Formats: sequence, structure tokens, C-alpha cells
Amino acid sequence: MSLSSSAHPHGVKTVIVPAAGMGTRFLPATKTVPKELLPVVDTPGIELIAEEANALGATRLAVIVAPNKQEVMRHFEQFPNLVETLTERGKFEQVAKVQRAAKLMTPVAVEQAKPLGLGHAVGLAESVLDDDEDVVAVMLPDDLVLPMGVVEKMAAVRAELGGSVLCAVDVPREEVFNYGVFDIEEIPADSDLPADKVKRVVGMVEKPDPADAPSTFVATGRYLLDRGIFDALRRIKPGKGGEIQLTDAIELMIREGHPVHIVVHEGKRHDLGNPAGYIPACVDFGLSHPTYGPGLRRAITAILAEHEAADTAEAAGAAQHPTQN
Ligand code: G1P
Repeated sequence: MSLSSSAHPHGVKTVIVPAAGMGTRFLPATKTVPKELLPVVDTPGIELIAEEANALGATRLAVIVAPNKQEVMRHFEQFPNLVETLTERGKFEQVAKVQRAAKLMTPVAVEQAKPLGLGHAVGLAESVLDDDEDVVAVMLPDDLVLPMGVVEKMAAVRAELGGSVLCAVDVPREEVFNYGVFDIEEIPADSDLPADKVKRVVGMVEKPDPADAPSTFVATGRYLLDRGIFDALRRIKPGKGGEIQLTDAIELMIREGHPVHIVVHEGKRHDLGNPAGYIPACVDFGLSHPTYGPGLRRAITAILAEHEAADTAEAAGAAQHPTQN
């Protein structure tokens, strides 16, 4: 199929979704449920990604899965018996919910036999691309970047400046060791693009010590990559943690003269990859939910009041009996 601009308005047909991780931070739930299927209110993270990919105008979701994690792909199946039962019972809203994922994207499973790193996972997806795809998007399902639409902004930057474009956020320096960190330069002053939101990347380093980090702008789960990334991935050696790092392939492309820019995201971001980020994401989506929002707001207010009362009582007790602590 040809990659016509009307079929894919931002030139992106395939979105690569690495979903082969073990989900160790969500054990014991992830013994049987892949973390990408954990619901944010009622919708699994992988379906939120499919929604974002669909809005971008992409049509193929290349999901990188581990051999024992095929349930992620099942989420995109048709479920005819369930649809029939719900239809017979007149539960049409639920029918739409069952059918939604499959309507959003055409999923393709790409198996990663061993967890050899994010770069290795992304590299495997080359096998499902058509010859005429010169750019791919990568969306990490651990990262919710809100409001949706940042990859559209990144595509506009690629249209103007060429090359590859990544999404960045500015984090406190002590947090940079969790991320790929950008070494940046300002774009030319006569550019039409906003200099506070678009910057040129002159280097990238995976999870540096805060003292060594070239900036506090870090990669946050959305990449618009020139097809040359696959060649670069084949040429790099294992990096941080002994893994094939996407960051290192991007750094190699930069060194070889490939233009790389960042779009600085100023909206919200949730890290669904661990409970400390997943719980606030559920609260955020829950509070915005038309059905659950008002009740959740009351419930959270009551829970906070209880905890504060308990904390106050504990502090008063400690003050009365200081030796017991
Ligand atoms: C990965 C990337 C890192 C990036 C991060 C964003 O790390 O390797 O460069 O900043 O995603 O979430 P991970 O979170 O998989 O350790």
C-alpha cells in the first residue's frame, strides 16, 4: 500500500510500541496481567496509545511483545461472543467499548525473544514496515503525554527542519538519571519555530549521573524517527545496563550529521510504568471522568481528611509520649 499523504496526514503510518517489559514494579499483578493492560479507570494503557496513534493518522501498531505476553495482542481481537451477548442485552455502550481497540489501529505483533533493551526492541519493528515508510513514531506505553497531540507538533518540526524529532520535558536535575538526556543548542533566531519549545540536539546520553548531565531536558516516550534509525541500531554496541539503547543510536545519528530536534512538552505527563505514577494517572483520569469524577472528588477529599486527622493524632501522641519513639 502506498503511503499517500491523505491516508497518513503526518506521514506516519506505523507506530512502534515496545511492550515486552516484565513489569517487575507491578508484581504481583504482572504475574498474569501485562502492565500495558492495567486500566487507567477502565481503559488499558495500550488502548490509550492506540487512541493517540489513531489521532496522529497512523494505521499500524507494531507492538513489540515478549513470547509469554501475547495477551497484549488479544486486546485488539474482535470478541464476537461477548459482542453478541452484550447486543442481545441491549448494552450498546459496552459493545462499543469492546470493539474500540480493534477499530483504532491494525496491530502487528513483533516478538522480542530476549529483553535486550529498548533499542533492540525498536529495531525489530523494521521487519513490518513497507518500503516507502521513511519515518516511524515510537510511543512508549509507560509514558502518558497529555494533552495528546505532541507527535503532531513533532511532525510539523520535521516538516520544517527534516531529520528526527523527540519529545522532551524539563525535569529537576536530581531526576535526570532515569532518562535519556539531551545536549541542546538554540535554533537560529530567524526561525519561524518557537525557540523556547524547539531546540536542536547536539548529543544525547542515557541515564547519566546528575552531575554529568548535559541539560535537564529529557526524553519522554515519544519519538519521531527517520528510517535511518534502524541502520544506526544495527551499528551500536550494548550501552547502559548492557542493553542496546535507543539513545545511543540517536547519538550515533547526530554524530553522523543527522538533524535531531526536540519539542519541549509543557503539558502533563504520567509515568504508568510504576505505581507511584500509575496511581496519580488513575486519579487524574478519574477526576475528569463524567460518571466517576464527582464521586471520586468527594471520596478523595474524605480520604485526605481521614489521613490528616490520623497524622495529627499521631503527632499529638508522639508529643505526649516522646520516649516511646
Ligand atoms: C526509556 C529510555 C530513556 C527515556 C525513557 C522515557 O527508559 O531508555 O532514554 O528517557 O524511556 O520514559 P526506561 O524508562 O525504559 O528505563
